[in-house]
Amino acid sequence: MKASEIRQSFLKFFESKGHTIVASSPVVPGDDPTLLFTNAGMNQFKDVFLGFDKRPYTRAATSQKCIRAGGKHNDLDNVGYTARHHTFFEMLGNFSFGDYFKHDAIQYAWELLTDVFKLPKEKLWVTVYAEDDEAYDIWNKVVGVPAERIVRIGNNKGKRYASDNFWMMGDTGPCGPCTEIFYDHGPEIPGGPPGSPDEDGDRYIEIWNNVFMQFNRTEDGVMHKLPKPSVDTGMGLERITAVLQHVHSNYEIDLFVALLAAAKKAVDAAGGGDCDKDSPSLKVIADHIRACTFTVVDGVIPGNAGRGYVLRRIARRAIRHGYKLGARKPFFYTLVPALVEQMGEAYPELRAGAARATEVLKQEEERFFQTIERGMEILESALAAKPAVLDGDTAFKLHDTYGFPVDLTADVCRERGLTVDKARFDELLEQQKKGGREAGKFKMAQGLAYEGAPTTFHGYDELVREGAKVTAVYVDGSPVDFARAGDDVVVVLDHTPFYAESGGQAGDAGEFRNATTRVIVDDTLKIQADVFGHHGTVAEGEVRVGDMFIAKVDAERRARTVRNHSATHLMHKALREVLGAHVQQKGSLVNAERTRFDFAHTGPMTDEQIAKVEAIVNAEILANAGAKAEVMALDDAQKSGAMMLFGEKYGDTVRVLSIGSSKELCGGTHVGRTGDIGLFKIVAEGGVAAGIRRVEAVTGENALDYLRSLEQTVNGLAGSLKVAPAEVPARVANVLEQVRALEKELTALKGKLASAQGDELLAKAVDVKGLKVLAAMLEGADAKALRETMDKLKDKLKTAAIVLAAVEGGKVQLAAGVTNDSIGKVKAGELVNFVAQQVGGKGGGKPDLAMAGGTDPSKLAAALESVQGWVAQKV
Ligand code: ALA
Repeated sequence: MKASEIRQSFLKFFESKGHTIVASSPVVPGDDPTLLFTNAGMNQFKDVFLGFDKRPYTRAATSQKCIRAGGKHNDLDNVGYTARHHTFFEMLGNFSFGDYFKHDAIQYAWELLTDVFKLPKEKLWVTVYAEDDEAYDIWNKVVGVPAERIVRIGNNKGKRYASDNFWMMGDTGPCGPCTEIFYDHGPEIPGGPPGSPDEDGDRYIEIWNNVFMQFNRTEDGVMHKLPKPSVDTGMGLERITAVLQHVHSNYEIDLFVALLAAAKKAVDAAGGGDCDKDSPSLKVIADHIRACTFTVVDGVIPGNAGRGYVLRRIARRAIRHGYKLGARKPFFYTLVPALVEQMGEAYPELRAGAARATEVLKQEEERFFQTIERGMEILESALAAKPAVLDGDTAFKLHDTYGFPVDLTADVCRERGLTVDKARFDELLEQQKKGGREAGKFKMAQGLAYEGAPTTFHGYDELVREGAKVTAVYVDGSPVDFARAGDDVVVVLDHTPFYAESGGQAGDAGEFRNATTRVIVDDTLKIQADVFGHHGTVAEGEVRVGDMFIAKVDAERRARTVRNHSATHLMHKALREVLGAHVQQKGSLVNAERTRFDFAHTGPMTDEQIAKVEAIVNAEILANAGAKAEVMALDDAQKSGAMMLFGEKYGDTVRVLSIGSSKELCGGTHVGRTGDIGLFKIVAEGGVAAGIRRVEAVTGENALDYLRSLEQTVNGLAGSLKVAPAEVPARVANVLEQVRALEKELTALKGKLASAQGDELLAKAVDVKGLKVLAAMLEGADAKALRETMDKLKDKLKTAAIVLAAVEGGKVQLAAGVTNDSIGKVKAGELVNFVAQQVGGKGGGKPDLAMAGGTDPSKLAAALESVQGWVAQKV
């Protein structure tokens, strides 16, 4: 049976048992910031297990794309070294949401394995959680597995519930005891049964895990009982396929054979020659292309943090293995088509995203190939000294300067039986981070020390605040008791309606007033998380600590800013709709002029896509839906489906902003209704970095201003062209056509003019010992006209040496020609050079015709006069 058939037959089997077949979710869990990557089939059902979400079914089956390379379940280091570990794999799973429990789950599994897949019963072993007598009895008494092949496994990881037979999705979330089914690949493979000291060998392979979901573990470590006991199972497609295809290693199954061959071909072509087809490095490459491609297709791009860094680590590890086999130029990205061939049918998103994935991986690979060689030299020379452990300083240097993730360095060391001094590496990394953090803090605080009361922000619903008290005043970065008219100041208030720059939204401007004093504020920035510094100038009077003011935000500027901010949310949503769910915010800047939004996507947006995004956003504006901000627990926000950014640190309570069809975490200020935005127009689209696009857009009056200025341009053009605005394009096309016709005519006339002059010139030729010498200017000629006239003059003068010159745009153009019968005496190349040198130029060419240029027309007349003498010396 081929892997694809096994996948199908699993799903069919559970369909026949009343399960709904559900599609795989992306490898990037969209709405679960607790999870780096989808690591199990149950992830997409997490909320169903917890009782927060309901589905129209209580039984489901899936074939889920999983990545275990980072986070709680991390197999990266094992890939290539065992027969059964992958960074990316497919998990076949059946699920019961409060429907069946241990009895049915165990019996379904047994029936599928022994009846449908026809595995010999005596080759199957099972494990149960030590305390789970119920599962033990079902296996032993109901199914009939003999006691010697049932192993109880207790808390073998040091704590209660820390066990191979107690499964947790992560540090928090649904969990429960499990029973695992193992296949015995036979005595010729090293390894012992589960629970024995040599269980890590490849002989007894776990093929299926059945988890009895009973608890929700919260951050405090408490296990809360789930509303309904449920079932979550997972069988690695690659492992069961190996068993059914009678091979011992996952890398020998049909899915991998083709990928391994493609990997060898790619490495060979990139410099590997004819690399060893059995090298573990090829397995690493074949495994990693799956993880990398699926990850990119689902919206991740290589970067230095979070998921992007995991992707980078996997890609670079694969590239290093190719390098080890001899590849000296990018090869990894060329494997995408081979993967699509194998898996495109089961996962159509792979086909759709293949071109983009190829591009993204290629860019990453090109980048790493710039440093890998030097990095490997450094590493090799450190290893040549045969250290017991590679020092952390070298590992850090490789990481910091040469882009070698530390696990890549560790991977090389492992091949030589060495380890890396991780403690020292971590110490250096921490030092670097601390430096960065301090620099960041300094910038945020702008060097201002503050110890008073925090600022309370009222600007979500007030633009004017009476009785705002000054808690600090700074001039030139130092705290002062008071500041006078003319001073540039930073003022901290205890209460303010001014929004301080954050989350991409610019700070407010405005003014403070009281009976004697006026302060113009032109920006508001945070001094500390909840201390707002109002930057501005004292216009009248004095500001003292303790003074009371009316603080008034510039309402017009704020209104423009909020329009842009609200439009950004709608645009983010629309971009995902038009371009795909891989679109993720990578940066944004919103001020009174415009919104600038950076997001993950490769390749420029088409005009059509831009128009579509504009149409969606403007339709939301016309619908005039209300905006609503709610403060809620992070958990509740997650459940509500609000968009949040992975890797962003959110507090326990967050502000969820719903506007139109968008729902996002946001601390910024927004319009009351979408209609307040007025009009939305994208004004620019471009690339800012590999895989990152930037869109700029305007709203409200700014959009109107933008359109007006376009209109003015068009009207101006129409006026100059003396047509109605709508006729401008046709008129311009017409004018261009005329210009082209005129240019043609002009060239022809220049030729004619030159040749007419040529006839007059004949008379000016001087006889020097039988050779006609002519040096003259041709008014209005270009290089082509010079050459043509030259040919004619040569024809007519028969035995001649000629220099023709023209001046165009302050530059001298020269041509020298010698008739064939005289090139033994005078060479055109030398002649033209002789003249060119005198006018600040240089030239050369063939003995009969040579061209040159010059920069000094003022010397041309004298230069031409010198020709006769020069020729006379030669003949
Ligand atoms: N969620 C379980 C696992 O991943 C089935 O092993």
